[in-house]
Amino acid sequence: MKTHNWKSNYFSTLETEIDKIKEEGHYRVFNNIERKAGQYPKATRHHEGNTEEIDVWCSNDYLGMSQNKHVISAMQSAAEKLGAGSGGTRNISGTTNFHIQLEKEIAALHQKERALAFNSGYSANESALKSIISAFDNCLVLSDELNHASLIEGIRGSKKEKAIFRHNDVKHLKDILQGVEFSRPKIIVLESVYSMEADFAPLEDVIEVAQDNGALIYLDEVHAVGLYGPNAAGVAEQKGVAEHIDIINGTLAKAFGLAGGYIASSNTIIDFVRSFSKGFIFTTSMCPAVAAGSLESIQQVKQNTEVRDSFFENVTFVKSQLRSAGIPFLDSGSHIIPVLIGDSKLCKQISDYLLDEHQVYVQPINYPTVPKGTERIRITPTPCHSEEATEKFVEALKDAWLKFMPLLSKFENDFAGKVKSI
Ligand SMILES: Cc1ncc(COP(=O)(O)O)c(C=O)c1O
Repeated sequence: MKTHNWKSNYFSTLETEIDKIKEEGHYRVFNNIERKAGQYPKATRHHEGNTEEIDVWCSNDYLGMSQNKHVISAMQSAAEKLGAGSGGTRNISGTTNFHIQLEKEIAALHQKERALAFNSGYSANESALKSIISAFDNCLVLSDELNHASLIEGIRGSKKEKAIFRHNDVKHLKDILQGVEFSRPKIIVLESVYSMEADFAPLEDVIEVAQDNGALIYLDEVHAVGLYGPNAAGVAEQKGVAEHIDIINGTLAKAFGLAGGYIASSNTIIDFVRSFSKGFIFTTSMCPAVAAGSLESIQQVKQNTEVRDSFFENVTFVKSQLRSAGIPFLDSGSHIIPVLIGDSKLCKQISDYLLDEHQVYVQPINYPTVPKGTERIRITPTPCHSEEATEKFVEALKDAWLKFMPLLSKFENDFAGKVKSI
């Protein structure tokens, strides 16, 4: 047996990588916060042995559905009836009536023949894309340059040829497709709302390109389901084009307030994915209580249009308050409000300052979530944020803005160019 500490070589390789991201300022620090059920956006922050009450302004629980009393009671009653875990994969004793009802509800929401639930939106994207793309010989994947990591990993896992088109640039997409035979299999992969830029994909134009070139469309509606469209099915529903989207991906973890993800599509595609996708087959199915809560949440959101109305009213109110306070932000008409900072260390400093001095929480969004030089804080209003909470938040942001403005201007020219290009 070797006596010297040979494992230290492994650790030092990893530590070098960690030190690098610390040096660059995008080492991730997780804030320890407990949201208070029924009092959202209030939460308790645990910090250096103390606790304090804060307001959360960066959660993806867009409608506050995680605290909805009907959802909580559906989860409680499912757990009491069926137990906590599902006890198996979907194939080996892990399918319950809640899973089946949930998939029916999702299929109906998107007006597709069938749906399939996964443990997260990430695994839905990664494993569904990998299996679908792999099925087609010589498949060409066309992917928006700002697609989410789960889409990128799914495409990469298929090992097929990938062409990246500039963000939301349909002309570039067309250029790439010029000269590619109509009969060659192709899949266009994109998101309907890009959560870091807060902009919408030009869906109608993408559909036209897909039809002219014989391409399938895989659309990630993770940041749109529960919010947009008459039944809250997303942007494709809002624009009346859902029937032209071949595979819709969504999450149960954002506007629906729980955890889990899904795809909705035709019978054939869903049957294929459930039969071949390893990330669906070889994992324990979602807890029955999560399936029951998600089912309840979708039904509540569909019926309860006032929650969505008040959500959009609050988004408009926050934007107007920010404008009056002179705080610039990216506004492409969606519900997400990114404030560009352009430097990772400064982004973290501003976020810490807001939390420590004003008890308001917005997480710094740094590389690799966004390209270097376009670091930002990302504000997500909900129907639960009162006018008073908004005024307090905007005052805090204004204070931080004035304090850090001299440092910010250093990056202004730099990021103005970068933002245009993202
Ligand atoms: C665009 C996009 N797709 C997929 C996901 C993954 O969804 P989930 O959180 O359900 O895993 C995210 C997560 O934040 C996302 O932003």
